[in-house]
Amino acid sequence: MAKGFYISKSLGILGILLGLAALSTIIALSVVYVQEKNRNAQSPTAAPGAPGGSTTSPRSPTPDPDKPWNLYRLPKTLVPDSYKVTLRPYLTPNSNGMYVFRGSSTVRFTCKEATNVIIIHSKKLNYTLTQGQRVVLRGVGGSQPPEIDSTELVEPTEYLVVHLKGSLAANSQYEMDSEFEGELADDLAGFYRSEYMEGDVKKVVATTQMQAADARKSFPCFDEPAMKATFNITLIHPSDLTALSNMRPKGPSVPLEGDPTWSVTEFESTPRMSTYLLAYIVSEFKNVEQQAPNGVLIRIWARPSAIDEGHGGYALNVTGPILNFFARHYNTPYPLDKSDQIGLPDFNAGAMENWGLVTYRENSLLFDPKSSSIANKERVVTVIAHELAHQWFGNLVTVEWWNDLWLNEGFASYVEYLGANYAEPSWNVKDLIVLSDIYRVMAVDALASSHPLSTPASEVNTPAQISELFDTITYTRAVLRMLSALTVACLSQSYLHTFAYGNTVYLDLWEHLQKAVDNQTSINLPTTVRTIMDRWILQMGFPVITVNTKTGNISQEHFLLDPESNVTRPSDFNYLWIVPISSLRNGNEQEGYWLEAQNALFQTAANDWVLLNINVTGYYQVNYDEDNWKKIQTQLQTNPSVIPVINRAQVINDAFNLASAQRVPVTLALDNTLFLLRETEYMPWEAALSSLNYFKLMFDRSEVYGPMKNYLKKQVTPLFYHFGNVTNNWRDIPDKLMDQYCEVNAISTACSNGLAECEQLVSGLFKQWMENPSNNPIHPNLRSTVYCNAIALGGEEEWNFAWEQFRNATLVNEADKLRAALACSREVWILNRYLSYTLNPNLIRKQDATSTIISIASNVVGQTLVWEFVQANWKKLFEDYGGGSFSFSNLIQGVTRRFSTEFELQQLQQFKEDNQDTGFGSGTRALEQALEKTKANIKWVKENKETVLTWFTENSK
Ligand SMILES: *[C@@H]1O[C@H](CO)[C@@H](O)[C@H](O)[C@H]1NC(C)=O
Ligand SMILES: *[C@@H]1O[C@H](CO)[C@@H](O)[C@H](O)[C@H]1NC(C)=O
Ligand SMILES: *[C@@H]1O[C@H](CO)[C@@H](O)[C@H](O)[C@H]1NC(C)=O
Ligand SMILES: *[C@@H]1O[C@H](CO)[C@@H](O)[C@H](O)[C@H]1NC(C)=O
Ligand SMILES: [Zn+2]
Repeated sequence: MAKGFYISKSLGILGILLGLAALSTIIALSVVYVQEKNRNAQSPTAAPGAPGGSTTSPRSPTPDPDKPWNLYRLPKTLVPDSYKVTLRPYLTPNSNGMYVFRGSSTVRFTCKEATNVIIIHSKKLNYTLTQGQRVVLRGVGGSQPPEIDSTELVEPTEYLVVHLKGSLAANSQYEMDSEFEGELADDLAGFYRSEYMEGDVKKVVATTQMQAADARKSFPCFDEPAMKATFNITLIHPSDLTALSNMRPKGPSVPLEGDPTWSVTEFESTPRMSTYLLAYIVSEFKNVEQQAPNGVLIRIWARPSAIDEGHGGYALNVTGPILNFFARHYNTPYPLDKSDQIGLPDFNAGAMENWGLVTYRENSLLFDPKSSSIANKERVVTVIAHELAHQWFGNLVTVEWWNDLWLNEGFASYVEYLGANYAEPSWNVKDLIVLSDIYRVMAVDALASSHPLSTPASEVNTPAQISELFDTITYTRAVLRMLSALTVACLSQSYLHTFAYGNTVYLDLWEHLQKAVDNQTSINLPTTVRTIMDRWILQMGFPVITVNTKTGNISQEHFLLDPESNVTRPSDFNYLWIVPISSLRNGNEQEGYWLEAQNALFQTAANDWVLLNINVTGYYQVNYDEDNWKKIQTQLQTNPSVIPVINRAQVINDAFNLASAQRVPVTLALDNTLFLLRETEYMPWEAALSSLNYFKLMFDRSEVYGPMKNYLKKQVTPLFYHFGNVTNNWRDIPDKLMDQYCEVNAISTACSNGLAECEQLVSGLFKQWMENPSNNPIHPNLRSTVYCNAIALGGEEEWNFAWEQFRNATLVNEADKLRAALACSREVWILNRYLSYTLNPNLIRKQDATSTIISIASNVVGQTLVWEFVQANWKKLFEDYGGGSFSFSNLIQGVTRRFSTEFELQQLQQFKEDNQDTGFGSGTRALEQALEKTKANIKWVKENKETVLTWFTENSK
C-alpha cells in the first residue's frame, strides 16, 4: 500500500509552515495511519446462518484456545491450489435499501496432514446454499471426501468451519463449493462501493480493497499471504458497465442467460498469488491506453469526465518508463501482460498495489495540467512508482507473514524514488527522500516509545495487530537505502528469481545479499550482512554519532529527542549499531569506514573541519565539538558550495534536533541558519523553515515574534528577489522541481514575515483574479500561498470571493487549496463564521471538517476561537461526530499545538475533568500526549525564551 497519508505541499507553503520541527512532528506522525487503522477497528457484525445451515453448533461462551478455529492463524493442514469465484454486485439498493453482492466459489485444496475439520476465512458473508450444509465437498482425482457433520461461523477469528465425520487424507485434493451474499457497503474494505456525482446523477462503483485481511469479506478463502493460489474470477455486471480484474478477460463479455441487461465477463487465471492482491471493479469509467513495446497493455482508468479532460495523461506518460525501469532494475520482465491503474473517488489508503489492477485515490493518479501544481505531479509519479515497484517486490515475491511487512513497504518506499527519478530525471526527487521520509521518520523513531522494524511472527495475529504495523516506521525507516548505498546493483535479483511466486522471510534477503557481497571484491563489510542489519531492524531508534576533533574521538549513543525519557524496551545489542561512516574533510571526501565501538580517527588541524554522513545516506545524526561546528558555520557563510546541498540541510536539521535533546545550545542551531542569507537551494531552506516552525508556534503570541519575523524577513529577502529575477518578475516558472518548491517557500516566507513587495505581489494577483473570475492568472504552484496571503491581507470581500470559488470548484486539488486558504483571514469574526460552517455538511463535507478546523487553529488568530469552541461544544461534537470520519485525535493535537503556559495547562486539565463523563474516544491518547507536550513546551519556553529573544534581536539588525 502507499503511504496512507499525504501531508500536502500546499500546507507547507501556507505561511503556516508545515510543522516538521523536531518536536512538533511527533504529534503529526503518530496519527498518520489512523485512517487505515480505523478500518479494522470496527467490530464484526453478526453473519448468522444460512437457511440450510440449521446444524450450526452453539459455541461455548469462553472459546477453548486448544481448538484450531479459535486461533487467528490458519492451521497448516490444508493449502489452496486454485479458486473459481463468480461475483455479482448490485449497483442499486435492494428492497431493504441495502447494496449487496451475490457470489459463488469453488476452492480446490490439498490436504497436507490428515484432519477432520476445514477452517477457511469468511467475514460478514451469509451462505445461501438451500440444501443441506453451507458447503458442498468433493474429492478430486478419485479421493473420497468424508461426510460433513456440521458447519459453523466463528466470528471472532473470522472463520467458516466445516466439521467432518471422517478425515481428509494427506496428499489428497478436494474441492469445496459455496454460495453466499454480502453487503456492498461503503466501508472501503473488501468488496465495497464508492459513489460520486456526474452532474446531478449519483453513480456507483463496485470496487475492492483486500489488504490486509478483507478478501475474506468477499468470498471464503485461506486469507493469509503465504496461502498463494491461482484465481479464476468471473464478474456478472450491468451490460453497460465495464468489469476489470487482475487479469485480462478471456474474451468478450456475454449476455447473462435469462437476463440480457446483465453481462458475464470471465477473466484469465491469475498466476499463483496472495489473496490480499486480488481486485475486481465494476464501473462506467473510461480509460486512456498505450501498448508498450514488450506487449504489456497499459491503461489508466477514471471517471469519464476526468478522462475526457485529459487528467489520465500524465499517469499514462510515466507508467511505461517506470515499468521498464523496474524490469531492468530487477532483471525480471513485468510478470503480467497488462497493467491497469484506476483512480477512485473513495479510497482509504493512498493507493494499493493489486497485481495488474492498481487502485488509487484520485489525487494520487490524476493530474490536471491546467490547475494542478508541481507538488501534485510529484505525488502522482512517486505513488505510481511505489505501486509498480510492488508488482515484483511484494506481488511476485511475497513476505511469509505480515510481521515482515517492513521489508515489503520499506523496499517500495525506497525504490519509488529510483523509479520516479527515472521518469522525471531532471527533478532530483531522489534527494527529497531525506526531507520527505528520513527526517520525518527520525522524529518518531527518536522517541522512547518507538519500536523495532521487525516483530516476531508470533506477536502479530489479529487483524488489528496487522493493521498496527502500517505505520511510518514500517514504511520509511531508511535502513534499506543505507544498505543499498553499499551493495547497490545486486540488491534483489537472485532473491527475486529464487522466490518468484513464493514467499520469504527477511533472512532470505540477507542471505542473498551476502552472496552478492561475497562475489564483489569492491565491497568490504566488517562482518556479515545479517550481523550488521540485525542491529538496525531488531532494535528501535538510531544513533547520534559524536565527533570530537580535538581528540579525534568518534562515538555513538542511542539518540532520544527527550533526554529525560526512559527506554523500557530492552535490546540484545545495548542500543549500539554498526554504522557506515562517510565524511568530508575541508570539502574532500574521506575513505569510508564502519563504526562499531569508539575510535580516534577524526583529529583535525587548527583550520580543518570534518562533516559526516555525506548526502545523509546513513540513518543517524551527527554532533561535533563546538570548534568544528563553528568552522562548518564559517565554511557555509564563506563558500557553501563545497558542502553538498543535502548536507547543508542536514547541518540545520541535526542541530535543531540536537538542541531539542539538549546536546547543543539552541543558539548553535540558530547560528546554523545564518548562511541562508545567500542560500538559494530548496533543501536547506526547507529544513530551516520546518525546524523553525516550532519556534513560531511557541513564540508567535509573544514579544519574541517581532524580532523573529525581522530575522526571517532579512534572511528571505535576497531569496525573494532571486526568484523575482529568474522568473522574469514572476511571469515564468523555474525549470527545476526543487526551484519551483523553493520559489513557493520564498513567497510564503517573505509575505508571512511582512516583506512589502511580496504583499503587493500576492494582493495584486488575487485582485486580477477577482476582476476576472473565469480566468485565474495565478500559476497552480503559487495558488496555495497566494490565496492564503491575499486573504490574510484582505478583508471580507476577498474572503467572500474565495468562498464562492471554493463552492464552485470542481477539481479536488483546487478546492483543497481554497479551503485551507480561507482559514488564513486575520478577522476574528470571519474566522468565527468559517468555524461555524465546518459543522454544516452542506457547506464543508464531513470528511473535511477536522482538517478545516485544524487549519483555523493553526492561524494564531483562530487558535483561541477553536479552543473555546472545542471546550464549549465537546459533548455535542462527540455525540454528532463520534464514530464517524471525524478525527478527535487530530483535533486535540491541532488545537493544543501552541500550548506553552501554565494557564493553558490548567485549562487543558480542566477540560479533561469536565468531559470525563462524555469521554474522548479516539482522542484519548492524544489528550494525554497534549498534556505531556504542554508541560514540555512550558519547560522549553522557560529555558529558551530569553536566549532566543536576544539571538533574534541581535541577528535581525
Ligand atoms: C482455473 O482455471 C484453470 C485454467 O483453465 C484451471 O486449470 C483450474 O482448474 C481452474 N480452477 C478452478 C478451481 O476451477
Ligand atoms: C445477512 O443476514 C443477516 C441476518 O439475517 C441480515 O441482517 C443481513 O442483512 C444479511 N446480509 C445480507 C448482505 O443480506
Ligand atoms: C504526455 O506526453 C505527451 C507526448 O510526449 C505530451 O505531449 C503531453 O504533454 C504529456 N502529458 C503530460 C500531462 O505531461
Ligand atoms: C524516567 O525515570 C526517572 C527516574 O526513575 C523519572 O524521574 C522520570 O520521571 C522518568 N521520565 C519519564 C518521562 O517517565
Ligand atoms: Zn506499499
